[in-house]
Amino acid sequence: MINLHTQLAPCHKRGLLLRNPVMVASGTFGYGMDNANIAGVHLLGAITCKGTTLHPRSGNEQPRMMKTSSGMLNAIGLQNPGIHTVIEEYAPIWATWQTPVIVNIAGETIEEFVELATLLEGVEGVAGIEVNVSCPNVLAGGAVFGADAQTVATVTASVRRVTTLPVIVKLSPNSGDVRPTALAAASSGADAVSLINTITGMGINISKRRPTLANVTGGLSGPAIKPVALRMVSEVAQELRLTYPHVPVIGIGGISNANDALEFLMAGASAIQIGTINFTNPRAGIEILEGLEEFMQQEGIKSITKLIGVAL
Ligand SMILES: Cc1cc2nc3c(=O)[nH]c(=O)nc-3n(C[C@H](O)[C@H](O)[C@H](O)COP(=O)(O)O)c2cc1C
Repeated sequence: MINLHTQLAPCHKRGLLLRNPVMVASGTFGYGMDNANIAGVHLLGAITCKGTTLHPRSGNEQPRMMKTSSGMLNAIGLQNPGIHTVIEEYAPIWATWQTPVIVNIAGETIEEFVELATLLEGVEGVAGIEVNVSCPNVLAGGAVFGADAQTVATVTASVRRVTTLPVIVKLSPNSGDVRPTALAAASSGADAVSLINTITGMGINISKRRPTLANVTGGLSGPAIKPVALRMVSEVAQELRLTYPHVPVIGIGGISNANDALEFLMAGASAIQIGTINFTNPRAGIEILEGLEEFMQQEGIKSITKLIGVAL
C-alpha cells in the first residue's frame, strides 16, 4: 500500500491533511465547477479556487492573455464574482465534495483581506484560505503586498487573528529572493506558504508597435518558469527547515507532468499545485497522481513523505 497523505498545517488544531499532494493552482481551475465532471477530478488532493475579492470584478481590458514560448502571459486582473457569490453559491456545493477547496483571497488593503477572511469563517465547504499577496496595495501606491517582508507579516498576522481556518500565504517571486517574505509569513502565523505566483513579463505586437497586453505587463507562467520556481522552492524549504520546520512549502510553477512534480517534492515541497497545464490538459492532475504512484511503486517507496526534501 502506498501512502500519499500529506499534512499542510501540522500546527493547526484541525490540520489540513490532503489525500495526496496534487493540488490545482488558483486562477486555472475556476471554482472547480466547470471541471467537476472530468473523470477523476474528485481524486485531486485539493482545489485552490480563483482569486476572490470583496466585490465582483470584471478584470482588465482585452487582450489579457498571450502565448509565449513554453508558457503564457496573463493580465486577467482578478475577474471574479466576489466573495458573497462564492459563499452563497459555490461553498454549499464544495461541502458535498470529498476534495477540499481552499479559497484564494485578494485584497487591495489589509482591511479587505481581514474582511474576506472574516466572511469565510465558519463557512461549510471551505477547507482553508490562501492569501494572495501578489496583488497591488492601493495605500502603498500600487506596490504589491508581497514585495515587502514587513507588509507580508502584517497581512498574515491580520488574517491569522480573524480566522480559525488553515492559512496558506502565496508568495510572489518578483523580488528575486522569496526567503524574506517566506520567513515573514511563517513568523506571523501562516500554516504553510505556497510559491511561486507568476513572474512579471511583457510582449510586443510588432505589427501594431504596441505592447500585446492591454495592461502592458502580465504574469508569466508555464514550463518557462519551472527552473526559477524550483530554485525558489528549494531555497525557501531550506530556510524554513532551519527556522520554522513546522511550516510546509507548496511548490508551484510550470509543473506539467509527474517528473516535474517529483522534482518539486524532492526540492522540499510537501504538495504541488498545477496551473497553466490545466488549460491544455484538464486531466493533468490525475495523470500526475498516477505518475507519482507509479514512481513510488517502481522505487519501493511506501510514503510520499519519504520523498519530501530528499534532494536538499
Ligand atoms: C490565467 C491565470 C490566472 C491566475 N490567477 C491567479 C489568481 O487569481 N490568484 C493567484 O494567487 N494566482 C493566480 N495565478 C497564478 C497561478 O496560480 C500560479 O501560481 C502560476 O500560474 C504558476 O504556476 P503554473 O506555471 O503551473 O501556471 C494565475 C495564473 C494564470 C495562468
